[in-house]
Amino acid sequence: MTENYQITLNLYLNSINARLKQIVSERPLLRERLGEAMEYSLMAGGKRLRAVLMLEFYRMCGKNAYDIIDAACSIELIHAFSLIHDDLPCMDNDDFRRGKPSCHKKFDEATALLAGDALNTLAFEVITNAVMEQKISAVTAVSLISVLSKAIGINGMIGGQIVDLASEGKQISMGQLELLQSLKTGALIEAACVMGTAAAGKYDKIADAAAYAQALGRAFQIVDDILDVTGSFEELGKPIGSDEQSEKSTYVTLLGINGAKREAQKLTQQALDALNAFDDNAFLKELTEAMLNRRN
Ligand code: IPE
Ligand code: IPE
Ligand code: MG
Ligand code: MG
Ligand code: MG
Repeated sequence: MTENYQITLNLYLNSINARLKQIVSERPLLRERLGEAMEYSLMAGGKRLRAVLMLEFYRMCGKNAYDIIDAACSIELIHAFSLIHDDLPCMDNDDFRRGKPSCHKKFDEATALLAGDALNTLAFEVITNAVMEQKISAVTAVSLISVLSKAIGINGMIGGQIVDLASEGKQISMGQLELLQSLKTGALIEAACVMGTAAAGKYDKIADAAAYAQALGRAFQIVDDILDVTGSFEELGKPIGSDEQSEKSTYVTLLGINGAKREAQKLTQQALDALNAFDDNAFLKELTEAMLNRRN
């Protein structure tokens, strides 16, 4: 890991975390516990990959990353909502997340459900507030909301989650697994890259950003599936063996550990190649490789 990479990443993480904390600081009367649950899950850690991707694409397109910090935070709000719901007993039934009890364990199921819902809508409030505060233009906000909302719904993350649940206890084809992952994980990662590029007004680069994101997103989920088998609770901060417990179909069940590792390497190379469409891509190349070799 180069020093430059580490410094840039830390700057990004500090800014994202500081802004996120401001965004979830509200504790309105009689809703204090809901506010606490939102902050608990949002601020529990996390790699902030999606926010970093958005900021870095915007920067690679020649802009000042910090001008869209609110939009970058919005995607982390969505991601946190997806994880709270993903852990619920009716979904993956996991008791730990980011090294702490899952939201429904720390609070209760109804609070976790509603905290997820409130983080979801807060994401859009944050983007529209950024217009009101004259941080981004209304036109930029519409394009960001257009990309983000599609990436969350039936044709995005939520659609992927229902296909994931329907795959439990079944043998599914590689084609179905690809669809499942491209929706449940790929859609938000792609949205992050496309939003950064679109916000910069570089519409001719959106296809390149999407191609990169699709390869990265697949590699990312494959590594997640591998770590569910080979990782430790201490490293991951979430239960290992969760997929087997729920009889999920994953890249590991379809390809085996070694086959899954080879696929992740191949996709990482594809992602790196796609980045050649952008100048000044050294940081993102390093991040892409770090995501392949990550232990959490
Ligand atoms: C976990 O996402 C869920 C998947 C989509 C695989 P991350 O691995 O990005 O989770 P955090 O944000 O770092 O905790
Ligand atoms: C979750 O995938 C993807 C989401 C949309 C949250 P997983 O269920 O594999 O994520 P983890 O392993 O619980 O983080
Ligand atoms: Mg899941
Ligand atoms: Mg899960
Ligand atoms: Mg997983």
